[in-house]
Amino acid sequence: MAEVEKKLEGKVAIVTGAGSSGPGVGTGKAISILLAREGAKVILVDKFQDRAQETLDLIRSEGGEATIVVADLGQIPECQRIVDEAVAIYGGVDILINNAAMSSSTSLLDTTPELYQQMLAINLTAPFMLSKAAIPEIIKRGGGSVIFITSIAALRGQGGAKGSAAYSASKGGLHGLMTDIAAVYGPLGVRVNCVAPGMINTPMRAGVLAKSGLDVETLNKALAKRTSLGIEGTAWDIAKSTLFLVGPDGSYITSVLLPVDAGVTQRMG
Ligand SMILES: NC(=O)c1ccc[n+]([C@@H]2O[C@H](COP(=O)([O-])OP(=O)(O)OC[C@H]3O[C@@H](n4cnc5c(N)ncnc54)[C@H](O)[C@@H]3O)[C@@H](O)[C@H]2O)c1
Repeated sequence: MAEVEKKLEGKVAIVTGAGSSGPGVGTGKAISILLAREGAKVILVDKFQDRAQETLDLIRSEGGEATIVVADLGQIPECQRIVDEAVAIYGGVDILINNAAMSSSTSLLDTTPELYQQMLAINLTAPFMLSKAAIPEIIKRGGGSVIFITSIAALRGQGGAKGSAAYSASKGGLHGLMTDIAAVYGPLGVRVNCVAPGMINTPMRAGVLAKSGLDVETLNKALAKRTSLGIEGTAWDIAKSTLFLVGPDGSYITSVLLPVDAGVTQRMG
């Protein structure tokens, strides 16, 4: 049987937050693995070496190619360094996946200026600066793809009694950033899209739910029931949508905000 052609052979991808903040699979880890399976060489960016190492080990065990770059995205100069490292190691950049984020269930009134600034720095400023550094490299390769992993929190609020005003604001900012740069750099072959996860069962979400003091398993089941499909989402659902958008199957798609949420935004407003 003929070997199936890999969709991202020869491409170089940067994925931020490529580890998982706890046991299990976060979206950055799942995205990195799927991109590598399709032949991309992946720059695994994470604040913590050990988290990225797990992803690297999984990719290498499948025969894929990846390199870790440890960086704290809260530091603006790190964004240019990440892109410079990708160019030095793999010769260029074709795909940028802005996935890393922090979250906090903190109401508007309880949000300190420090928390607000930290949230915006990691969730919005870093993707902005990484795009600024990566897009010239993507253009040099004749075009490519930028993804912002946002959240349905930017469409309908975070939910819960407190909400998460700074988180929702940071994710909403990414939608505006996408719309602007997709229009400007589209003629140069750069496609820019947002993937907005719904209620996805990842280590980050488990951490937030655990702080509520309620049973995480029970809560996950209750949240799944609120969706139109009635099922729980996993990091792989986000990774598959991301792969579709960045690969050749998404070649006519740009400036799209894709909720991957089993219909919960549509159903609950
Ligand atoms: N899980 C959900 O239900 C959900 C819902 C909506 C949106 N999202 C979004 O999906 C993305 C990933 O979420 P997840 O649940 O997989 O997260 P996760 O916590 O499992 O993984 C995030 C990774 O990012 C890294 N990271 C965090 N801050 C960093 C920094 N300053 N510099 C470098 N690396 C950093 C962490 O070390 C971790 O490895 C985030 O953008 C999140 O906002 C998740």
